[in-house]
Amino acid sequence: MLRSRIIGTGHYLPEKVLTNFDLEKIMDTTDEWIRQRTGINQRHVVGPDQAASDLGLKAGRRALETAGVAPEEVDYLICATLTPDYFMPSSACLIQHKLGLTRAAAVDINAACSGFVYGLQMADAFIRAGVHKTILVIASEVLSLRLDWTKRDTAVLFGDGSGAVVIRGEEGEQGILSTFAAADGHAYDILHIPAGGTRLVLTPENITDTERGIIMNGRELYKRAVMAFGEAVEKALQQTGCKAEDIDIFVPHQANERIIDSAAKRIGLPSEKVYLNLDRVANTSAASIPIALDQARREGRIEENDLVLLAAFGAGLTWASAMVRW
Ligand code: UT7
Repeated sequence: MLRSRIIGTGHYLPEKVLTNFDLEKIMDTTDEWIRQRTGINQRHVVGPDQAASDLGLKAGRRALETAGVAPEEVDYLICATLTPDYFMPSSACLIQHKLGLTRAAAVDINAACSGFVYGLQMADAFIRAGVHKTILVIASEVLSLRLDWTKRDTAVLFGDGSGAVVIRGEEGEQGILSTFAAADGHAYDILHIPAGGTRLVLTPENITDTERGIIMNGRELYKRAVMAFGEAVEKALQQTGCKAEDIDIFVPHQANERIIDSAAKRIGLPSEKVYLNLDRVANTSAASIPIALDQARREGRIEENDLVLLAAFGAGLTWASAMVRW
């Protein structure tokens, strides 16, 4: 059977680190509040002149290196981001050029924090339909530049970073076994960036008093996230006929440790099978799963033939999952 195998992973985190104690100095918050409510200790943030494509380029290059795939072998590049370099062209096109993916088509997608798993589903469909053979999926986010640093309810939650995977069609039993993606735009405004698009255009007159950062109704989002995340993990089990005890590792979107715990409990997965890096990198939106995947693999937590569950939820709302035989 033709399957989409993940044959390489990579990630990049900017060098600058902001700890919870650093944030205590610039806003009314405490390390204790942040750790207890979320599980976050620190986050990485970009330096000057670093945009989404710069981070994505490094993650993509590392994924190609670990896969042993030459840039000209890549047929298609999908870049999941809600913080692209420009409205146009796509960050995918910038990365395509800088990485030397001379044969690859390139496109950005935005499904917020679910963007990577949405991208994985598209890549899997392309490969199994015989449209493309080798696809690079990158997720890259520079959320620190879309935060209002005077708002403690959102500023403490997010970080910057990029992760990438190389996917190739191969005959066999290993690869992506199932994918699931869902959306509900009804509650779009519980997590959104009001200004800077075509709905609320920034002008010299409104630029100082218009919301340009992330706005979030944390409590409402929490409730919906628990439901959506739970559905995503259950779908992966239903679609594959696998049981929770078959899963070797669950690599979730890293938004909040309590939300992750509740999803794991819903399917009866013990905490030692859950990979967490939220303490080190915070919520990097679409980039969170591929960063965690690469770290887990390099730490020896993912081995050949392991059954790996991925699940995400985010603004939109969107939610998604995938089951992978590594
Ligand atoms: O990728 C998807 C994106 N986001 C999410 O999934 C987030 C989902 N939501 C959550 O994770 C949680 O709602 C939060 C971690 C954001 C907040 O936790 P919570 O337990 O729901 O807190 P809360 O919003 O109910 O706020 C509790 C208190 C409030 O004070 P009062 O009204 O009780 O006096 C807030 O003003 O905590 C206060 N607060 C803070 N205090 C210190 C809010 N942010 C902070 C802060 N430091 N950074």
